[in-house]
Amino acid sequence: ASPARSKRELLDELAREAEGGKQARELGTLRDIMVFAVGNPDSDIMFIGEAPGAEEEKQREPFVGPAGQLLTKIIQAMGLRRSEVYISNVCKFRPKIDDGRMQGSKNRAPTTGEMLACQPYIMAEINIIKPRVIVCLGATASTGLGIEGTVGRLRGRVQEWRGHPLVVTYHPSYLLRREAEDGGGLAEKRLVWEDMMRVMEI
Ligand code: URA
Repeated sequence: ASPARSKRELLDELAREAEGGKQARELGTLRDIMVFAVGNPDSDIMFIGEAPGAEEEKQREPFVGPAGQLLTKIIQAMGLRRSEVYISNVCKFRPKIDDGRMQGSKNRAPTTGEMLACQPYIMAEINIIKPRVIVCLGATASTGLGIEGTVGRLRGRVQEWRGHPLVVTYHPSYLLRREAEDGGGLAEKRLVWEDMMRVMEI
């Protein structure tokens, strides 16, 4: 088998394991549908977000809702296609609000406990992909990898994490929220772009 195929097989196996995994399910605070990852397992760049939202759950693909559309634009601005990079989340299930029955399109960030329940999968994914660089989208994602701190403190540099260059930047949802608040968010968008330039230089 070609290397790409064997990575794909390992990821498929891991996804099946995550889907059947009891630890996340037994919390009772995550919804049932698993959203694993999307993209090219041979990619140099691995983007990691927090958890699927309503649209991701519907399409069973990470980052396809409003934040995902902005991420796709950022990837394109980097001169890449979405299908060329690997996109995943720390938490593989959409977190429930209340009991999840009347949740509609409301989303929330995963708790530390929810991320810990899914952490073995993202760690295993990183080991399979072996990306040249990891991009954490937001502090929830970096926290999920065990990196403490706010984006404000962690961004703006390339860190070394378990032998991988890693960049933390603002989550696209945050950029969208800032845009809606004061019609701005330009300063934050510029910072994300600076971070992506660092990613492209690695
Ligand atoms: N936000 C995330 O962190 N991940 C997704 O997949 C979608 C939105």
